[in-house]
Amino acid sequence: MKLLDHYSTNARALPWRHPPGHDGPRDPYPIWLSEIMLQQTTVATVTPRFERFLQKWPSVEGLAAAPLEELLGEWAGLGYYARARNLHGCAVKVAEIGGFPSSEAALRQLPGIGDYTAAAIAAIAFGEDAVVIDTNVERVVARLHAIDRPIKDVRPQIRTLAGELYAGVPSGEMAQALMDLGATICRPKNPKCEACPIADDCKAYASGNPQAFPPRPAKAKRPERHGIAWWIELDGQLFLTRRADKGMLGGMAALPGPDWQDGEAPPSPLPAIRHVFTHFALTLRIEQRSQPPANLEGWWHPLDRLEEAGLPTLYRKAADAMLAQRKEAPLHA
Ligand code: ADE
Repeated sequence: MKLLDHYSTNARALPWRHPPGHDGPRDPYPIWLSEIMLQQTTVATVTPRFERFLQKWPSVEGLAAAPLEELLGEWAGLGYYARARNLHGCAVKVAEIGGFPSSEAALRQLPGIGDYTAAAIAAIAFGEDAVVIDTNVERVVARLHAIDRPIKDVRPQIRTLAGELYAGVPSGEMAQALMDLGATICRPKNPKCEACPIADDCKAYASGNPQAFPPRPAKAKRPERHGIAWWIELDGQLFLTRRADKGMLGGMAALPGPDWQDGEAPPSPLPAIRHVFTHFALTLRIEQRSQPPANLEGWWHPLDRLEEAGLPTLYRKAADAMLAQRKEAPLHA
């Protein structure tokens, strides 16, 4: 098959990947870890973090035995922190049952493993016949067949057509070949059709405007929220807390502050940062306080070792903004 032939000589070398044609045993642990990390996060961002993570926890049993806080700290900056909480829950479960199950259906039962991830692990780690469909695969299939309706309206059709691609070939190889094609050639914008091994079979290519497929629904405007973070500093240390287990940035280290509010930020002289989450954009003001509110649980963290605090990007940005401002206009000059 043309796509698999192309993959056999063009596969990206990725640290969680066996080279095409690999026939030996596969450890499902790094494959599972990579698939969870790669949800919503690019290969370039994931690669160094994946390697660090595996160095720290070379086995699923080791990960299961680690405190959740340590895992969340290691995940800091990768976003979508429910993934990290589920990763821990899944590791505990897998250690309990003595290893990863191999079937798509049994994998689907584990925390944090949805339809795509169950299919990907079953196919890539266990060589099962699974139809692996991520957004890359959806786009490739929609273009091959010049489907001119938004993906969300044609999922059953995409599944049937993707099933044809996977029929009679090793699913793990096909999945990764399709992902590479989607990431490097059949890109959302500016597809490189001249380099595509299956351009001759592609109806979108034949149409002369492949990028128009699949049509993208107009994006709704992101709602605004606003909030305040307290900067409480004493003797070179910063007071940090842990966010509630549930909800945004659940369980992560944070600057303390009241709950965020809906709506545009009211005018204020306080310094602020902006951070865009998937479902809203946040304006976070930073207010200096001399001491933590009574009853607020937290800890003091040395300011010169903030990178070890496990802060998610939002609070790293806030801290970096405060420290940069201080460099420009030192408070005690
Ligand atoms: N994105 C999600 N899973 C992937 C994989 N196994 N290889 C490359 N990109 C991916």
